[in-house]
Amino acid sequence: MKVLVIGGGAREHALCRSLSLDPDVTALHCAPGNAGIAEVAQLHPVDAMDGAAVARLATELEARLVVVGPEAPLVAGVADAVRDAGIACFGPSAEAARLEGSKAFAKDVMAAASVPTGRSYVCTTPEEIDKALDAFGAPFVVKDDGLAAGKGVVVTDDIVAAREHALACGRVVIEEFLDGPEVSLFAVTDGRTVLPLRPAQDFKRALDGDEGPNTGGMGAYSPLPWADPKLVDEVLETVLQPTVDELRRRGTPFAGLLYAGLAITGRGVRVIEFNARFGDPETQVVLARLRTPLAGVLLAAAEERLADQPSLVWRDDAAVTVVVASHNYPGTPRTGDPIEGLADVVAQDAPHAYVLHAGTRLADDGSTVLSAGGRVLSVTATGKDLGQARERAYAAVDRIRLDGSQHRTDIAREAAEA
Ligand code: AMP
Ligand code: GLY
Repeated sequence: MKVLVIGGGAREHALCRSLSLDPDVTALHCAPGNAGIAEVAQLHPVDAMDGAAVARLATELEARLVVVGPEAPLVAGVADAVRDAGIACFGPSAEAARLEGSKAFAKDVMAAASVPTGRSYVCTTPEEIDKALDAFGAPFVVKDDGLAAGKGVVVTDDIVAAREHALACGRVVIEEFLDGPEVSLFAVTDGRTVLPLRPAQDFKRALDGDEGPNTGGMGAYSPLPWADPKLVDEVLETVLQPTVDELRRRGTPFAGLLYAGLAITGRGVRVIEFNARFGDPETQVVLARLRTPLAGVLLAAAEERLADQPSLVWRDDAAVTVVVASHNYPGTPRTGDPIEGLADVVAQDAPHAYVLHAGTRLADDGSTVLSAGGRVLSVTATGKDLGQARERAYAAVDRIRLDGSQHRTDIAREAAEA
């Protein structure tokens, strides 16, 4: 089948890599892509946010399946435009993607479906904000209601900073602080049947030891040796299935990837957030462990046939991914620097470790790869356990040279030592 992937980050590179290894995929296209995706897919300079242009491209290419990666096009209705053109699309409608696009909407769905989450208030006035901050006390959790590219959430002990962020948001969700390790659990769903993937853990802070500012994610690993083996079943039963059922009941079924961001608190599992797409960088480690060819699963979800899909098959391997970011990320990143050592990783670390590109582009010479964003690339590695996967990932990271770049050195360390 011919497949078109929309987006151009490391998540889309991971998706394209898996799809390119799937014997059922006869042609792979990506728009807009990046310098790494260009090695496995044909790129098209089409704006991911332009639903009509994406649908036109999919029609021209005679794509059997379109996979929309990032949240912004989903919330903007790009999946709807593709489906309206009669082409199967993996990714929720704009209505269903509000689960990620509006924190207040997500809270409303969770309340209706009795899904465990932090208590919260939706506030629009300074009076409501002060009342909510007083009610919960420190640490304060203040979330912009809308999409904010990972910058909408402030967790702080400082009431002045909390109030300032809340006032700047307009509509804001103020929430109880949830203490405990975080888990990302993804599920593929066709709006009725829910197929959970393997859990992963993400590292959100920029610096070692979970210091520094929040980022889009600096690394991830899977499996989670410390997690309760019943976690996935429990989350399926108490979180994923009820949420999918509630959205179907409302007449806006969610078909695509449902991402539950969870806190494992002393009082049980709580949802921190939902996302309407694969997470980055967790996708890199989850897909590295998936043995079942990906295209058939995504197509079955897009065509409401997941109930007939055989169980997913997983490798025993562990996987670790380490993000290499530009100088100054998550502030305004420095870009345009050459990235060296990529060929050394291919020569010395493949197939156990490989590079997935995020913010990269090809220089005019057609061969030099340049940095072009905050998160530049992620190195993903597999191994018999987390320790071996970590060693392989960091060996490959050490071969990559990008002036001023930064990465965390403690991804999966604690879990590997446990
Ligand atoms: P989000 O943008 O919703 O993924 O939130 C970013 C990060 O903020 C999460 O990964 C958590 O680390 C933290 N966070 C969000 N909500 C809470 C909460 N209620 N309690 C504690 N930390 C939170
Ligand atoms: N890794 C966090 C996210 O994708 O939102």
